[in-house]
Amino acid sequence: MRGYFGRKTAFVAALLATTSMAMAEDVEVLHWWTSGGEAAALNVLKQDLAAKGIGWVDMPVAGGGGEAAMTTLRARVTAGDAPTAVQMLGFDIQDWAEQGKLANLDAVATEEGWDKVVPAALQAFSKYDGHWVSAPVNVHSTNWVWANKSILDGLGIAQPTTWEEFVAAMQKVKDSGKTALAHGGQPWQDATMFDGVVLSVGGVEFYKKAFVDLDPAALGSDQMVEVFNRMATLRSFADDNFSGRDWNLASAMVINNEAAFQIMGDWAKGEFLKAGKVPGKDFLCFRVPGTQGDVSFNSDQFAMFAQTDPAAQAAQAEMARAIMAPSFQSAFNVVKGSVPARTDVPNDAFDDCGKQGMKELADASANGTLVGSIAHGHANKAAVKNAIYDVVTANFNGETDAKTAVANLVSAVEAAK
Ligand code: BGC
Repeated sequence: MRGYFGRKTAFVAALLATTSMAMAEDVEVLHWWTSGGEAAALNVLKQDLAAKGIGWVDMPVAGGGGEAAMTTLRARVTAGDAPTAVQMLGFDIQDWAEQGKLANLDAVATEEGWDKVVPAALQAFSKYDGHWVSAPVNVHSTNWVWANKSILDGLGIAQPTTWEEFVAAMQKVKDSGKTALAHGGQPWQDATMFDGVVLSVGGVEFYKKAFVDLDPAALGSDQMVEVFNRMATLRSFADDNFSGRDWNLASAMVINNEAAFQIMGDWAKGEFLKAGKVPGKDFLCFRVPGTQGDVSFNSDQFAMFAQTDPAAQAAQAEMARAIMAPSFQSAFNVVKGSVPARTDVPNDAFDDCGKQGMKELADASANGTLVGSIAHGHANKAAVKNAIYDVVTANFNGETDAKTAVANLVSAVEAAK
């Protein structure tokens, strides 16, 4: 009996292997990974898939946070021409799943045991109605500061640990004639800083009450006035040309000794690494002062749009399997600046910032101090996120004072939720 089943299983496995290879075709991938560091990480994925016989049709749509990519996606789906695989964040995944557009990945998820290794905070977005609809490729987090070590050393500035120390450090840099804060004035970048500032003012409890529960009292509180005051402080440390600048060009200012700090998600580390910079030696990574222990996260996932063609379905399953392989999760995230989307990946290959990120993610998850990024679609659906973007950016550009911004925030969120 055993021999029979053994032979039969081997035969079926061989058949499956040949069919899936014969059937696998190209995947068309819509994504917004267009910077140097992002492209390097994307190459790790392309090469991994190429080695498995899966071809890649590239569909890049630049723009951090993915707003432009999501607009393109809507147009493609409306035209009845959805891409095979799409980089997607948080609530957008749930939204497309609710519309019945996403493929069911349960078969590969069960085979590969995703339920046991993907953190619950990610499963909340990867699964809809109990079914897997996307494969998480990483976990990023937004409450990070990236600092130029030689500028700090030259001015005798120690790594700041409180908001006040951070402001004093930025003042010292500004007084020296260098740019204190490298920033790109785009709504999603303003909002990315906002994630960290909210945490610095009121911690996770305030963050959740205001931006997850959307409690009007928290949104309209004095603490929120302080959030906008801090945003204005940050604005005063950016250079005059910040408006419209891409995030990777802001990172380049820190890399090239033109600016001391950037507040940005850990995709910024990908730019530093691409430029040959070494953490601890050339640059420092630390949490937005006053948010140590808290992690505002976002996870890039690949959602697969439902296909009828079996060859396309096979390619999607193979891509999902490849993305979730522990060795790939290590190789990719080392380059991307993010950390693995599975709990069982060793940290050996990661640099000190990556090791810190992995530990802090695990600790925050255990301690209840892990929150979804407001800026990157992990706190609210797109309508609310965009309403927050508008209020934050108008204020950052000096169109409103802190009190008006708070009043606008309350009404904009109320209208969008
Ligand atoms: C994504 C990152 C990306 C960043 C900047 C974020 O929304 O999660 O993967 O690197 O935008 O493009």
